[in-house]
Amino acid sequence: MPSPVNHVSIVGFGLMGAQIAQLLAQSGFSVSAYDVSEAQLHSGLDLVRKGKYGLENSVAKRRMTEEEADNALSRIILLNSLEDTCKGSDFVLEAVVEDLDTKREIFSKAAVYANQDAILASNTSTLTISRISESFSPKVRARIAGMHFFNPPQVMKLVEVVRTRETNREVVSKIEALCTSLHKTPVEVLDSPGFVANRIGISVFAEASSLLEKGIASVRDIDLAMRLGYGYPMGPFELGDLVGLDSRLRNMEAMYSDTQDERFRPPKILEKLVSEGYLGDPKTKRGSKGGYYEYFGLKRPGEDNG
Ligand code: 3HC
Repeated sequence: MPSPVNHVSIVGFGLMGAQIAQLLAQSGFSVSAYDVSEAQLHSGLDLVRKGKYGLENSVAKRRMTEEEADNALSRIILLNSLEDTCKGSDFVLEAVVEDLDTKREIFSKAAVYANQDAILASNTSTLTISRISESFSPKVRARIAGMHFFNPPQVMKLVEVVRTRETNREVVSKIEALCTSLHKTPVEVLDSPGFVANRIGISVFAEASSLLEKGIASVRDIDLAMRLGYGYPMGPFELGDLVGLDSRLRNMEAMYSDTQDERFRPPKILEKLVSEGYLGDPKTKRGSKGGYYEYFGLKRPGEDNG
């Protein structure tokens, strides 16, 4: 089924919102994007242009021509009003900070500003779609679903399409069709804390943190063990540094609060790093002092002979 939409309104232009906007634009979709912070709109655009998976690098590596990159960039319109971003839209994708009240507020406004039957999708990683949608009318709840991308979204092939028991079947099909147009593989998931991939991925991260805290092995050796022993492209700490340690912390807090499962209680070491401003790899995480590797003064695997 061809994509039922040709325009997507993105709310939140951080690490994920900006890169998803790029993916959509390079796949021929027009995008309007909004962020509450003007500085975030600028740094997001910088990521689209100059990021590791951004347009300039894609041209340099001959993944696209200069003309294709210019065309992609011209398809992204940045706006500083949520109303203008959603007005007349059939598809709103929210990618703001993992805060339930913020997401609920955005959805309540988007439901008014966007077209009456617009799909309201969230890129939330660990807040459940049911909790985001619970205060809405049944008609609006039927249009709310999860569309969960993985970082870096230009590269990672998976999108979790998350439905609640109330999400309309047609909404799920339309999101799946959009994924296919982006050359992604959709996996349909019934809403539950962490969905599938993060539920498993965060369990691995939690176990790795426990080994680190017990002094069983270093950050680097744990990462190497999972890379070389299990064939993971990245170990759990490198991956934490890539996705952002503040996000990892919020992910675990949300999953712990939803499940009360001790496995997901945020590790002390993670809380300490975040409280000291270590928010992840400074190459991708603006304003961060570093991630696990900078904190422990280690080289990431791949930065030397590892
Ligand atoms: N558009 C399309 N493809 C692009 C691109 C673009 N703009 N820019 C780069 N690529 C492609 C390249 O063509 C290349 O593909 P190829 O190998 O077929 O040529 C591919 O991206 C990889 O490029 P790199 O040179 O950077 O390759 P690496 O081998 O260094 O891989 C990595 C980097 C993809 C990040 C890899 O290390 C990896 O898979 N890491 C794990 C990432 C992961 O697990 N992400 C999930 C995190 S959890 C998450 O996001 C959930 C959230 O809720 C927290």
